[in-house]
Amino acid sequence: MIELKNIKKSFGNLHVTRDLSLHVEDGELLAIIGRSGEGKSVLLKQIIGLINPDLGNIVIDGQDITTLSAEQKKSVFKKCGYVFQFAALLDSLTVFENVAIAQLEEGVSKDEILPVVIEKLQSVGLAQDVLYKFPDELSGGMKKRVGLARTLMLSPKILLYDEPTTGLDPITVRVIHELIKKTHEEQKATSIVISHDIEIFKFATHVAMLHEGKIIYKGLASTIWECDNPFVYQFIRGLEDGPIRPVNVIGQL
Ligand SMILES: Nc1ncnc2c1ncn2[C@@H]1O[C@H](COP(=O)(O)OP(=O)(O)OP(=O)(O)O)[C@@H](O)[C@H]1O
Ligand SMILES: [Mg+2]
Repeated sequence: MIELKNIKKSFGNLHVTRDLSLHVEDGELLAIIGRSGEGKSVLLKQIIGLINPDLGNIVIDGQDITTLSAEQKKSVFKKCGYVFQFAALLDSLTVFENVAIAQLEEGVSKDEILPVVIEKLQSVGLAQDVLYKFPDELSGGMKKRVGLARTLMLSPKILLYDEPTTGLDPITVRVIHELIKKTHEEQKATSIVISHDIEIFKFATHVAMLHEGKIIYKGLASTIWECDNPFVYQFIRGLEDGPIRPVNVIGQL
């Protein structure tokens, strides 16, 4: 379970997260929507501990991470897998080294870890021939899959995805969404996906909307198109903010 209570986070005068609360039950696949720059990535980074909130509590599996030491936090974050907005692969390392980076750093031998890497690559639909390629040689969709395979190496119970499908073609978007759903079910994980793709609603269990630094709505994904919250209604249909006013033609002349 993930519980965020009254989170506040500012960068100087920029108040990004303002009194944000969110409850995510075990087993949920939650899609978070919201306009660009609203603070969605900052929200995920606070859950994973990359950014500390100024105020508020973040409780993961009963532990309030805002009260833990850096050392204590590590054990909580071992349960979390984070797929970055821009794949975040290291260009000087091969796919194999990127995927196994945590295990290689812990001193596990390459021979030992190779079969696991192959298995994880297969589970994200990548063949063995990518093993010794460098990120530059991969397409955007392949990079996202490698990023996902790296996360799966940790068998996380909590999976956080920051825009896993942005910039991909509709077919690859579908494939990645299916992968997220499959991984969610196989790992029996709790998943949060930040996405601008409305197709995610078909795969998510719940949808939450971030607006002006707060979660202003959370409900079932299956009923999102019937949601009458005005902000959600407009956002998912791509409408402008505020009521649509007739243009004053005479005034423009
Ligand atoms: N480390 C930081 N230092 C200062 N400002 C930051 C930092 N990280 C994010 N911001 C600012 O916080 C705001 C929210 O950023 P964030 O990346 O969370 O937006 P987002 O909702 O993920 O947008 P997008 O949909 O474009 O990815 C932005 O104005 C950004 O410039
Ligand atoms: Mg972002």
